[in-house]
Amino acid sequence: MQLVSTRNPSLENSFLGAVQAGLAPDGGLYIPTEIPRFTDMAELLAMDFQARSAEILHRFIGSEIPRAELDALVRRTFTFPAPVVPVTDRLAALELWHGPTLAFKDFGARFLAQVMAYASTGARCTVLTATSGDTGAAVAQAFWGLPGVQVVVLYPKGRVSPLQERQFATCGGNVLALAVEGAFDDCQRLVKAAFEDKALVEQLGLTSANSINIARLLAQTLYYFEAAAQIKSPAPLVVSVPSGNFGDLYAGLLAQACGAPIAQFVVATNANRVVPEYLETGTYTPRPSVATVSNAMDVGAPSNWERIHALFGGDHDAMAGALRWGSRTDAETCVTLAELYAQGYLADPHGAVACGVLQACLRDGEQGLFLATAHPAKFGEVLERDLGIQVPLPEALLAVQDRPLVSEPLAADMADLKARLLAWEPEA
Ligand SMILES: Cc1ncc(COP(=O)(O)O)c(C=O)c1O
Repeated sequence: MQLVSTRNPSLENSFLGAVQAGLAPDGGLYIPTEIPRFTDMAELLAMDFQARSAEILHRFIGSEIPRAELDALVRRTFTFPAPVVPVTDRLAALELWHGPTLAFKDFGARFLAQVMAYASTGARCTVLTATSGDTGAAVAQAFWGLPGVQVVVLYPKGRVSPLQERQFATCGGNVLALAVEGAFDDCQRLVKAAFEDKALVEQLGLTSANSINIARLLAQTLYYFEAAAQIKSPAPLVVSVPSGNFGDLYAGLLAQACGAPIAQFVVATNANRVVPEYLETGTYTPRPSVATVSNAMDVGAPSNWERIHALFGGDHDAMAGALRWGSRTDAETCVTLAELYAQGYLADPHGAVACGVLQACLRDGEQGLFLATAHPAKFGEVLERDLGIQVPLPEALLAVQDRPLVSEPLAADMADLKARLLAWEPEA
């Protein structure tokens, strides 16, 4: 597989090279030079999830991972389903929270961990990641205990749910959790700055597990095919993606470009409306994020937007023509949550944003699907406070809720981060 930087098409890399590097050397993001077009879609959709996923990943990645290794790796990664659950006769949820940390990030993080373990040469390897909530949990748990790899998770102090924090800040061992005095955008800025420090990158074998890593995004394309395989309706399929950093939407657009039968995508955001505003006006104005009840989408400068921009050749009109979009205030999100609950479906605030925007732009004769990206119990406080709904904790969360936190505070300052990284001696 050949990839190039979004900022410079002459900066090429292989799949494993791009996985290891995270960011391209010019600070751009890796994108495939060619997107394969699948002409046997009916056959692909007839396969089961694991067989189809191995086949699709093989078509993306090529010979860099031998087919038998890839098959085994896929079997170890995708050990849980992605069911489409009907909500009304023309609306369904794609539930992406049946993995170990109850969020869609399990797909990408577990695949990335397996690829890195496969590619490991014994040299030092430190995964550095920023999280607004679920990434940290998925990455920490996917890598926890993996020999030869250390994980550092940066998260905005006080801005992730207490249960999310328990999922990644209680691991210890080869996982270091740092609570940054600032917002998620500060965490992302620190990660970017660390990757720009070439000496540090070399010394620690720094690599990224954020949604900027191409391995995660390839894994995320797979559930769009799975959704198309499960939905039997012949009506045009319109898929709404709750978006923050825009990795999930990029993965969906890749799947669509490969031929997945998805008529149109809907960009759904909370009050952090940088992308909907751009689609409306043509002016892109990244800015500090504002806090909302769908906190994993509180992103004011979405890092993967660069990839989507590149996919459309930077053509605003083409993007505005291909996509639908909308945003939801917290009050509107709570109304959607209550309506869904009354219809017998319990969503989390992120899925509710996607559902609310979808309902506003779904046309007659279409089948709507929204991504349910996290288990509602992960946002139990919001559901209880704003709607009076008590969500029982599933087993995976019960297991972590009483574990002591082992995170450390960190100023939002590159010099402090560097000093801490260099001093860290992870336990084996
Ligand atoms: C539960 C949940 N939903 C949606 C999103 C947004 O996904 P993306 O950043 O790929 O747009 C996130 C991101 O962390 C998330 O955790």
